[in-house]
Amino acid sequence: MNNKSIGVFDSGLGGLTAVKQIMQELPNENIIYFGDTGRVPYGTRSRDTILKYTRGDIRFLRTFDVKIIVIACGTASSAALPMIKNEFDVPIVGVIDAAVYAAVRATRNGKIGVIGTSGTIKSGEYEKQIKAYDGNMEVYSKACPMFVPLVENGYFDSPVTKLIVEEYLEEIRSKGVDTLILGCTHYPLLAKTIGEYMGGGVTLINSGAEVAKYLKKKFDREMMHSAATDEEQYRYYVSDDISSFEELGGIFLEREINGQVSKIDIEKY
Ligand code: DGL
Repeated sequence: MNNKSIGVFDSGLGGLTAVKQIMQELPNENIIYFGDTGRVPYGTRSRDTILKYTRGDIRFLRTFDVKIIVIACGTASSAALPMIKNEFDVPIVGVIDAAVYAAVRATRNGKIGVIGTSGTIKSGEYEKQIKAYDGNMEVYSKACPMFVPLVENGYFDSPVTKLIVEEYLEEIRSKGVDTLILGCTHYPLLAKTIGEYMGGGVTLINSGAEVAKYLKKKFDREMMHSAATDEEQYRYYVSDDISSFEELGGIFLEREINGQVSKIDIEKY
């Protein structure tokens, strides 16, 4: 048993796609979530800036004595995690490995699409890891920088979202992929629109959900589970306006989070 909390962060709302799944897979766990809403998006920033933000986010979560930190952000997982993972005395996991593992098992025709932020696609991490599993896989990648602002503003299923989905995904769809990695944790919030455009034969891989499954296996193996508790299990922190996070986050998590969100000054960490 290990009753410490799980720390999770992302640049904004996107990491809640992992949190939602962690709540389901590991219902006894305490979760501390940080959404860096004051500095979102990460995906269009330079690697140096993403590194700086990632280190600060981890330092903030470390103040809670967490047992593990989940980088529920494809951009920080691909552009920063390989460089910083040995700098901290706490286990840190990103979303890339779990999503790649799921995708290579899901594909039947060996054609995998990867969509993510510009930072993630530029890093080449997903492609590198898929090829490391099987060099014969065909990988088609595309940066979709307008998806994150759509999500952060609640445009999950609007006509404008449909147009942008078509614009970004046309080429990948024409390649005949049967599996598409949603390589940014914001994108599962657009899964309905993306799925409708790609068609029923294409499996969408939700990187946040896959990291939750990975955590469950790790906790089983290493006896890291928390005991059930009556205390408040979930706390959320943001670096900008609380009310919009409460509103959109609550809708997405399908639970009331009003009163559980606090604002912090992330520049101090
Ligand atoms: N949700 C993040 C990701 O998975 C970050 C998106 C962004 O801030 O650009 O890449």
